[in-house]
Amino acid sequence: MPNSVIVGAQWGDEGKAKVIDYLTEGADLVIRFQGGSNAGHTVIVDGVKYVFHLVPSGIISPGKICIIGNGVVVDPEQLLKEIDELAVNGIDASGRLFVSNLAHLVLPYHKALDLAAESGLGAGKIGTTGRGIGPAYADKVSRLGLRMDDLYDWDVFCKKFMTGFDAAKRKIELLYGGEFSLNADEILNRYGEMRENLLPFIEDTCRYIFKAERSGKKLLFEGAQGTFLDIDHGTYPFVTSSNTVAGSACIGAGVGPQSIHHCVGIVKTYTTRVGNGPFPTELNDAIGEELRNAGKEFGTTTGRPRRCGWLDAVMVRKAVQLNGITRLALTKLDVLSDLDEIKICTHYEISGKRVEQYPSSERELAEAVPIYKTLPGWKRDISECKSFTDLPVEAVDYINVIRNQCYDIEVLIVSVGPDRSQTIEVKSI
Ligand code: GDP
Ligand code: IMO
Ligand code: MG
Repeated sequence: MPNSVIVGAQWGDEGKAKVIDYLTEGADLVIRFQGGSNAGHTVIVDGVKYVFHLVPSGIISPGKICIIGNGVVVDPEQLLKEIDELAVNGIDASGRLFVSNLAHLVLPYHKALDLAAESGLGAGKIGTTGRGIGPAYADKVSRLGLRMDDLYDWDVFCKKFMTGFDAAKRKIELLYGGEFSLNADEILNRYGEMRENLLPFIEDTCRYIFKAERSGKKLLFEGAQGTFLDIDHGTYPFVTSSNTVAGSACIGAGVGPQSIHHCVGIVKTYTTRVGNGPFPTELNDAIGEELRNAGKEFGTTTGRPRRCGWLDAVMVRKAVQLNGITRLALTKLDVLSDLDEIKICTHYEISGKRVEQYPSSERELAEAVPIYKTLPGWKRDISECKSFTDLPVEAVDYINVIRNQCYDIEVLIVSVGPDRSQTIEVKSI
């Protein structure tokens, strides 16, 4: 399989991990390049469920190398927890999992800052995952961050830690008027103990990837979050703090653009969003509730109910443009099986005008009223369908409308259930 980057085309939780797991067979290295443990990636194989926040989903496939790239912000406690959980499931990550020496750390004071900033925003809060992502990226850009590499020299680590710790304390107490209850000695003792377990995983991953690629190994880049949570292109300020689009894979893994040949856009066949912010096709009615229940739409990381709505082709077209999507993977089609009819938003109406292009202005998006095309449902269980020809004609029609709305991009995969086996490969790359 050519080197491919997998991205979410909506607001995250599109089913990226399921598709990544499926495509891992054709790859040698699976690489996370942005985000942190705000991600919640679920893979189900033969009924066994794995949930990843930091470790690439490829780890459950024997022999595959997994990389946490320099663009990821790493919570060391979460990382070790995941490695331990894998061991309980009989998966040894050592020698197969490498973390970039340049990856920045998410420290306990980042999480405290995240929570304090959110409570400071009151009703206008973002609805973050509380995993310290924003403050960790802020420290990175402010050149105050600590990196995996700092763990090699304990004195340096402690010194840099105290600078960040004191700054966070001042900010929480003076700016947000909050209480700062963290104890530096306690945290440093804990990190001193964890250090020995972390060091064997640290690697110059940029060099590792370069050498692997030169020797013919195939790369699969695992995106986290989704296009509309991108710090530049998303529904700012209701976004995450990294670039989630495909181009970010080059920076966050340390490869050139020529190392990526395909971009697979993961499109949930309806739309969900966790956290606050605009959502033109949101359904605050019985159908929204039905989608949430049928799709088990509760956050993998926080357990929050996900907001649900119809598929928004205006957004997906924008995602195609921003990521350079070359193939679509359509997920959770089975969730729509009980509906009498299915709607897809093809255009918006903004200030009385019919608009085809997703507006880049926050003001225009706030005004957008979806224009829908309505299709008949198929009212049949499709979760056992094994090939495209097994699908009811109404489901095929819906897929064709999605394609047609998205520049006729080929569909690589149709997913009809959470298990690895419930995957229809329409056309290989
Ligand atoms: P990710 O963050 O994009 O990897 O997605 P999540 O794992 O957060 O959320 C997707 C959820 O949908 C998980 O619980 C998956 O097991 C589940 N899922 C993935 N694909 C399908 C599908 O085709 N049908 C159904 N019913 N569930 C799916
Ligand atoms: P995966 O990889 C869905 C959302 C949060 C919040 C906003 C900012 O599983 O698709 P943050 O903690 O990043 O500062 O929160 O982004 N968010 C996600 N929503 N899926 C995710 O990841 C998300 N990661 C962050 O809910 O609205
Ligand atoms: Mg998720």
